[in-house]
Amino acid sequence: MDLKLELQKKAELVENAMEEYLPKGDHPQNLIFDAMRYSVFAGGKRLRPILMMAACEFVGGNVKKVLPFACAIEMIHTYSLIHDDLPAMDNDDYRRGKPTNHKVYGDGIAVLAGDALLNYAFELMIKATLENNEHLERKVLAMKEIANASGIHGMIGGQVVDLLSENKKIDKATLDFIHNNKTAALIIAPIRAGAILGGASDEELEALTTFAKNIGLGFQIRDDILDIIGDEKKLGKKVGSDVDNQKSTYPSLYGLDVSKKKVNELFNESVKAIDHFGNKSKFFIQLSDYLVGREY
Ligand code: IPE
Ligand code: IPE
Ligand code: MG
Ligand code: MG
Ligand code: MG
Repeated sequence: MDLKLELQKKAELVENAMEEYLPKGDHPQNLIFDAMRYSVFAGGKRLRPILMMAACEFVGGNVKKVLPFACAIEMIHTYSLIHDDLPAMDNDDYRRGKPTNHKVYGDGIAVLAGDALLNYAFELMIKATLENNEHLERKVLAMKEIANASGIHGMIGGQVVDLLSENKKIDKATLDFIHNNKTAALIIAPIRAGAILGGASDEELEALTTFAKNIGLGFQIRDDILDIIGDEKKLGKKVGSDVDNQKSTYPSLYGLDVSKKKVNELFNESVKAIDHFGNKSKFFIQLSDYLVGREY
């Protein structure tokens, strides 16, 4: 299997579906449509929807059927980035290789574009569920995963403690709380949702959840590392943002070497959770190997 090609194929499905789902057209509210589309189509790896599709495939489900849910998680992720970049949060000027949403549309519209993407994600999932209510319970359970992971017991909760931990020395448990919630939650949710939508067995769901928890935490530690050693051109965002904001990160607490080792450990653990499934775990294993050393 060619990982890059597989990632490209899945990302393309997401791009096309996003184009179809996102509102556009002549309307007094046109500006908000533009602002939503600006950040969604600025680029982005589409990792979360790709994970959802792959989890659905892993359990033998049909990838096309998860597309509204996959696009919804990418909309929620994009909203979290728009708000994360605001002057009141991380105050960043570049994202996905372009000026941040508030730099182009102003703070007020950027707040609303984030709100709009969050709400629209749920409009989209509910519409898709009502239009085709086959496996209704699976769809409701998938929405629950996504809603919980995005909220106070997930991404928002993590972002709160991230803000409260600026300029502070925090302990390991607090740092792990931040990373597990602000980032891993939105990586675990698409994997679990994709598996549930595809009809996972309990054993498959449990193994995929362990896989997801490990790559989720590892993904944010790698993000912390890239904020120090990354190349801005490749990353599409400014490095040094964490130091500027006196953020509590893995490298700030443990140094770069220990942080890199931790990423390796987590990705090794992720592979262990699924490699006994043989052939069908190939994509996730290759993806995990790639994410350890990702440069963007
Ligand atoms: C950036 O996420 C924010 C984090 C949670 C680390 P990604 O690195 O997936 O960003 P995009 O979607 O590719 O822009
Ligand atoms: C982001 O963490 C987590 C979110 C929920 C958006 P960071 O603040 O480190 O993400 P980047 O580095 O700005 O992408
Ligand atoms: Mg942040
Ligand atoms: Mg940030
Ligand atoms: Mg970061």
